[in-house]
Amino acid sequence: MTTLNKQDKRKILVTSALPYANGDIHIGHLLEYVQTDIWVRFQKLRGHDCYYVCADDTHGTPVMLRAQKEGKTPEGFIAEQKNNHERDFAGALIGFDNFHSTHSVESKELTQSIYLKLKENGHISSKTINQLFDPEKQMFLPDRFVKGTCPKCDSDDQYGDNCDNCGATYNPTDLKNPKSVVSGATPVLKESEHFFFDLKGFESFLRDWLSRDNHVQSEVQNKMNEWLDDLRQWDISRDAPYFGWEIPDEQGKYFYVWLDAPIGYMASFKNLCDRTEGLNFDDYWNKNSGAEVYHFIGKDIIYFHTLFWPSVLQGSGYRTPTAVWAHGFVTVNGQKMSKSKGTFIKAKTYLEHLNPEYLRYYYAAKLSRRIDDFDLNLEDFAQRVNSDLIGKLVNIASRCSGFITKQFGSKLSASIIEPELLAEFTSASEQIAQHYEQREFAKAIKQIMTLADKANAYIAEKEPWKLVKNDETKELAHQVCSLGINMFKVLVTYLAPVLPVLTDKVQDFLKLDNIAWDSAQDPLVDYEINKFKPMMQRIEMKSIEKMIEDSKEDLAAEADKTAQVELSDPIKDEIQFGDFDKIDLRIAKIAKAEQVKGADKLLRLQLDLGEGVTKQVFAGIKAAYRPEDLEGKLTVMVANLAPRKMKFGLSEGMVLAAGPGGSDLWILNPDDGAKPGMRVK
Ligand code: MSP
Ligand code: ZN
Repeated sequence: MTTLNKQDKRKILVTSALPYANGDIHIGHLLEYVQTDIWVRFQKLRGHDCYYVCADDTHGTPVMLRAQKEGKTPEGFIAEQKNNHERDFAGALIGFDNFHSTHSVESKELTQSIYLKLKENGHISSKTINQLFDPEKQMFLPDRFVKGTCPKCDSDDQYGDNCDNCGATYNPTDLKNPKSVVSGATPVLKESEHFFFDLKGFESFLRDWLSRDNHVQSEVQNKMNEWLDDLRQWDISRDAPYFGWEIPDEQGKYFYVWLDAPIGYMASFKNLCDRTEGLNFDDYWNKNSGAEVYHFIGKDIIYFHTLFWPSVLQGSGYRTPTAVWAHGFVTVNGQKMSKSKGTFIKAKTYLEHLNPEYLRYYYAAKLSRRIDDFDLNLEDFAQRVNSDLIGKLVNIASRCSGFITKQFGSKLSASIIEPELLAEFTSASEQIAQHYEQREFAKAIKQIMTLADKANAYIAEKEPWKLVKNDETKELAHQVCSLGINMFKVLVTYLAPVLPVLTDKVQDFLKLDNIAWDSAQDPLVDYEINKFKPMMQRIEMKSIEKMIEDSKEDLAAEADKTAQVELSDPIKDEIQFGDFDKIDLRIAKIAKAEQVKGADKLLRLQLDLGEGVTKQVFAGIKAAYRPEDLEGKLTVMVANLAPRKMKFGLSEGMVLAAGPGGSDLWILNPDDGAKPGMRVK
């Protein structure tokens, strides 16, 4: 670790948004945690006191209902999810100093005390409102738990807050024919007393805060100015039953999850302080604290973090954030992540097939400080990682190290043959550091890779493999390879925030106790190193394909859960006759049906289309049919569907079935008289 003078040493607290406890971590989330983690590792390498905390966001109606549905207590359910999240984050090499929970003593104490301070300072009021209530389930319904007909366009089955069909936004009470998603009952209007935070009263504070000191990115500032013209009182209470913290002195009233969620940042840090010698909560959160506090978030939750959160802190006497930094959303291959395309890739699935450092590198190579969306193009991903990390970076060490070990007794030369060349590498340190500091990771990576190109060009030009063969030039080969290893060491130091595991391996290879940012400056001369071991494998396209297949399989496993939704799937967009005519529907005889080892949902069907034509199809109907009952039956199949490689083999078509899925699925069974191969019109 670099040792800094006391006055240069910064105290920095960093957070990423708290993931919802009711969802799995996916590669979209990972953009945020990787971005934050790189920035934090960079600060630590520079020798600052930097802490990275996070937690699960556990409260609210969705968690409560999901736990009920799974027959678990909310506490049991969130404990399981916390394990899953921690496993995924560790797999992605996210180095939290603490990963806590909003369902913790620290969270309860802080939330209640912050509320009481807000109340004492006159920022809380109450008002009776009318809300939709499920008379069967005896609970008030959040907007997303009411469905009905859109008041604007009359399209059915729309949520209580906005219409998927026409885009209108409205109140759930405006829906025609409203139904509770929880029980199906028709909701009734019911009065209830709610508590409000006086956001409107913070308008001038917010205007000032947002316009100063780069508290938010410039793109955000513009958006904020619009919002500031239209501030409202913020409803921070919910009625029982609710999974969350009770509002002190109010019967059956709970804090809305978004009040306690950001307080979770403080709670996690408090928990860390309580078990860390010398780390003091107040040093970071007091009104006059000289520490820096940064929140990394996605663009969808800017409102909460730049309006509510600073106001809540201000109103309860704490310091406000140094900055809130938002990033854009991940798309895969240019499109929104999609479960059916297999591009909704869970962290767990990714990690079963690919090295986390590939993704960390690719994200770094494309991230800037802006809020633009981020496309993960899987082919570009493989190509970029292979070319940069394996082809350029690791290649330097693998080309040079063999000679050092075999010909020169594992020792690097006693001097640097071209100090100016090495100086080009070491003198880039401050500029690259500035790029990291500014979250311009793509710029940092670009500069590092330009240097890697230089190192490779130097080695290619000197051709040490030739020099080494001749006694007169052998020492020159030693010098060239030693310089190569030194250049490699500098590059790895610059990449250490992005590639922690590779850095560990290099530390081992170069027998270094630790790597800090400034260790790039110390050349290794007359110095013994270890034998080189392969450090990183190329990405094979086939691993990516498998990952996509497995992500589709995840969807099949979800089918049961979504059955109810599918029953009411809206009819898809109109197609032309020509589109329909392209589909070659044929009668097929199920010649053979069998279980597929390792597949939860699939049966393998051998379909006879007559005249000796057979096709293999994997159909997700295992829950509905025993294979032996299907054999000999006729069905209708799409015979000209392009074959698709699945995890278990090639699927060469599709059989037609009806129903919501799971065990309620009917294979379409033509009447007697049909013959295999017949065209269906
Ligand atoms: N629980 C809230 C945050 C509370 S913070 C006090 C939440 N959780 S989340 O699980 O939905 O999202 C966690 C973070 O991941 C958010 O910052 C969100 O913007 C980010 N992302 C979720 N999906 C994403 C992509 N597809 N791409 C990039 N970031 C994404 O919001
Ligand atoms: Zn509509």
